[in-house]
Amino acid sequence: MLVKSYGCQMTVYDATRMADLLGREGYAETQSEEDADLVILNTCHIREKAAEKIYSELGRLAIAKRGLNAQGRDMKIVVAGCVAQAEGEEVLKRQRAVDLVVGPQSYHRLPELLRRAASGERIADTDFAVEDKFRALPAPKEAQIRARGVSAFVTVQEGCDKFCSFCVVPYTRGAESSRPVAEIIAETERLVDAGVCEITLIGQNVNAYRGLDASGRESSLAALLDRLARIEGLTRLRYTTSHPVDMAQALIDAHGAIPKLMPFVHLPVQSGSDRVLKAMNRKHGADAYLSIVERLRKARPDVALSSDFIVGFPGESGADFEATMALVRAVGFASSFSFKYSPRPGTPAADREDQIEEHVKSERLAALQALLDRQRQAFNAATVGREIDVLFEKPGRHEGQIAGKSPYMQAVHAEGSSEHIGREVRVEIIGAGSNSLSARLMSEEAKA
Ligand code: 5AD
Ligand code: SF4
Repeated sequence: MLVKSYGCQMTVYDATRMADLLGREGYAETQSEEDADLVILNTCHIREKAAEKIYSELGRLAIAKRGLNAQGRDMKIVVAGCVAQAEGEEVLKRQRAVDLVVGPQSYHRLPELLRRAASGERIADTDFAVEDKFRALPAPKEAQIRARGVSAFVTVQEGCDKFCSFCVVPYTRGAESSRPVAEIIAETERLVDAGVCEITLIGQNVNAYRGLDASGRESSLAALLDRLARIEGLTRLRYTTSHPVDMAQALIDAHGAIPKLMPFVHLPVQSGSDRVLKAMNRKHGADAYLSIVERLRKARPDVALSSDFIVGFPGESGADFEATMALVRAVGFASSFSFKYSPRPGTPAADREDQIEEHVKSERLAALQALLDRQRQAFNAATVGREIDVLFEKPGRHEGQIAGKSPYMQAVHAEGSSEHIGREVRVEIIGAGSNSLSARLMSEEAKA
């Protein structure tokens, strides 16, 4: 079995849950298509021609499948994720080689769907299932968790009710829903018992989390983080991705109060122009964003920020774009993602007549990325000489090297042995490259 994922952390999490589920059914994971009797394309629909890319990938897989069939072998092809949700049966019609199409809210039914596919049925299951996917999924086995390393994702919230005018997520992932607190604690404890020490809570709008606690009351993300921080053996907590409107003061304060909560916040702003933010239906202005940043820095002075940006949203003027550049200068980001606006069918912004020309989008993106790049380099350079804790996760690229992450999500490598992998180690940062930092282990800590 080969699960190929494209897209956000939610997709990566779903892929691990699918692999765990099918592992229990006797499917072993492989790294290459040639050995796979089952290939799952776990797709993302958020930007640019995602569906077209999947169809071309499927065309390639169809040829491989015919080759295998000629040798008397078979390969089942499954399309999962948000493209599956958006395209549904269309995938089965357009590519005969596809056996199953399964959406993000119904993949817990894969074992049964695969049994039906084995007897020749071709099915598109894109229901927003009535039963709870999470409850239907079996807990992963300890060996499965250990094989994935010391940092893991836990989905706490799914879907989105914000309806930003450019975004397809509310249509593919459905309405906002939060998992109950007890379920999240149980999943986290299981991961920690199997050696995981860093948990990233994920959700399309994770800071809108309001799952029920044991007494049936709604819990905030801040309260959930506080509860999870009490789990012994868990050393790092993160959460992503957040909407500025849901950035409650309690969550901001949590950054000052919970040492395990890492000083890094991914808080997409999309644009620095109030006019564009309004047209995007973001429900806040640039000042509100700057105020959150100020309060976060007050709560946790070393907090690092990252964001998503869209340039060339319909109607974006030169002055609007300059407002984005001004916001970036005012904040100073540690890292960021930036994209050209891409019209998503079915979203309000896609129907606007004032689309921006491609070459203008490209110029603005290049200017923004150059600025963000300078900020990232400056942020990395500023960590040189500092002593920080690094969670080493795996061997480095070279013999005798180990690689991990700083509290600020920077990639760090150092000379060190495998005994350091899987724990936080105190290091001194000795150099900053364009994509990673080099470090020296502090000797006493390394032995501890
Ligand atoms: N065009 C470009 N970027 C988009 N994003 C979401 N929808 C679009 C779109 N239609 C970006 C946003 C979001 C990130 C996950 O993807 O910046 O925060
Ligand atoms: Fe999309 Fe906006 Fe919801 Fe984020 S908050 S998932 S950008 S609709």
